[in-house]
Amino acid sequence: MACFLRRSVAAKLSRTLRQPEDAFISALSAVPVSKKQQSSDFRLSVNTLRLNGIIPASGDLQLETEALANELKQDSVVEEISAGHGVINFKVHRQLLVQKMLEPFEEGYDKFGLRSELLKSLKKGTTLVEFSSPNIAKKFHAGHLRSTIIGNFIANLKQCLGNSVIRMNYLGDWGMQFGLLGAGFNQFGCQEKLKENPLQHLFDVYVQVNREAENNEEIWTAARAFFQKLEQHEGPAMSLWKQFRDITVNEYKQVYQRLGIHFDVYSGESFHQEQAHEVVQRLQDQGLLKITEKGTSAVDLSPAGDMSSCCTVLRSDGTSLYITRDIAAAIDRKEQYHFDEMIYVTDKSQEHHFHQLFQVLPAMGYSWAGRCQHVPFGLVRGMNTRSGEVVFLEDVLDEARARMLQNMSQSKTTKEMDCPEDTAEKVGISALIVQDFRGPLESDYKFDWDRMLQARGDTGVFLQYTHARLCSLMRRNNGVAAGGFDPSLLLEERSIAILQHLLRYDEVLYQSAKDLQPKHLVHFLLRLCHLVASAHKELPVKGSPDEVAQARLRLFRGACSVLASGMRILGIIPVDKM
Ligand code: ARG
Repeated sequence: MACFLRRSVAAKLSRTLRQPEDAFISALSAVPVSKKQQSSDFRLSVNTLRLNGIIPASGDLQLETEALANELKQDSVVEEISAGHGVINFKVHRQLLVQKMLEPFEEGYDKFGLRSELLKSLKKGTTLVEFSSPNIAKKFHAGHLRSTIIGNFIANLKQCLGNSVIRMNYLGDWGMQFGLLGAGFNQFGCQEKLKENPLQHLFDVYVQVNREAENNEEIWTAARAFFQKLEQHEGPAMSLWKQFRDITVNEYKQVYQRLGIHFDVYSGESFHQEQAHEVVQRLQDQGLLKITEKGTSAVDLSPAGDMSSCCTVLRSDGTSLYITRDIAAAIDRKEQYHFDEMIYVTDKSQEHHFHQLFQVLPAMGYSWAGRCQHVPFGLVRGMNTRSGEVVFLEDVLDEARARMLQNMSQSKTTKEMDCPEDTAEKVGISALIVQDFRGPLESDYKFDWDRMLQARGDTGVFLQYTHARLCSLMRRNNGVAAGGFDPSLLLEERSIAILQHLLRYDEVLYQSAKDLQPKHLVHFLLRLCHLVASAHKELPVKGSPDEVAQARLRLFRGACSVLASGMRILGIIPVDKM
């Protein structure tokens, strides 16, 4: 196994430097495969050892590196040790590398890398991830799409690293917009249309009532009256609201299913309406509330206590705000789910909001607020379909599927399949995901259908294509007799390069777990696909002697398994044929 190799090198260091093995596990990294010929497999940063206090930080770094490299001797695992710039390089015996890396793939093994020493060092517990969180009757914008796929990635990652994960959708299902929607529905709504196409109809009503309200005071009066009825939980108003909410959740569930995403909890702002007022009361009791000149109530967050920075929790008319409900929701979630960490995924325009949330909670005595985190992401420009602006999540998915289907029908390599729509859907979605995950999450980017759907570029289509190609290779050769496995038949540069690359898988997951950025995994998988493409050309299975064919199939099976596992973490469902 990969971790056997890392552990063996760490053990060697541990014996020489007389420090526990663990001290070296994270200071060792697998060497990235580069175009230039690369022969060593692991690299130890001597500076990291100094920084971690494993060796004294005095004297010349380079001299010390060389001295240490000289002191370390080859053994049955390591065949070459050399000093580089502040690093020591280790080259594992080639045959052992092949054997240990490919051993796990004997029986449909899909946990490769996930049990590694490095990943064991990460804290485990209950992680609550709140993501997607659209607003009822409003547009599902690009920000919601990003939150949906990024949140799903984080949840998948946390889960595969051994945490128990709660996936929560926090709907915008309360506030004055429901006053308008309710009043609007009474005027322009239609139960028939609501049943037929709920999201569209609610959106239409909402747009219409907003337009009317621009110069019609009566609408506002009706809206305020309706919202008041809601706040007082009056029967008919509540049942209309509940109908809107239920219908919306049902519709969303179906679209999330197309993305392969589910939620454990559909929560929402409405759930915390009353608790929000209890929060205000508690803030008052704790002496944390100040009444401003405008008559609003706020928590002073300024270091000097001069209200130069503050968080408003109550309007002058006594109604609560978005932040008030978030304070209540956080406390409630902690009580209900006992999370060890909570992650909120929204666009970066809400950074200030969450910053305030994470200041008010500790002021109230909730030290666990330190284990809450906001993952912000940038804006997407130009997410349009052929027929115009995107209003619903469904529109983007339909367009991705349609475009992909068209590309598939024009490509000469497309295979016969039972349900091309289904494949087009999965591949189209992977294109959306990879386009979104390639850069740092905080960056803005321009949505580009043509670029994201390219079969040859660094796209989700390329990942799927490589996966399907590997599956087909295995299907075509499942007649090759299974027998013993001879590692000496996989010593070619192309196969070593793939194995060296796979050595990095756990480090990539480790890095992703640390900064919650999907780009590390995306680039790792794209690189894997390029390496597979070269190996595919130079290491044919067909026409090779049985033992060679067997060994090569095992290499490709390993690559395919890691590719599929990484794709699943990203939220991509791998296809077997395309
Ligand atoms: N519904 C909000 C919006 O669309 C996002 C909610 C984010 N989560 C939260 N706990 N505030 O902007």
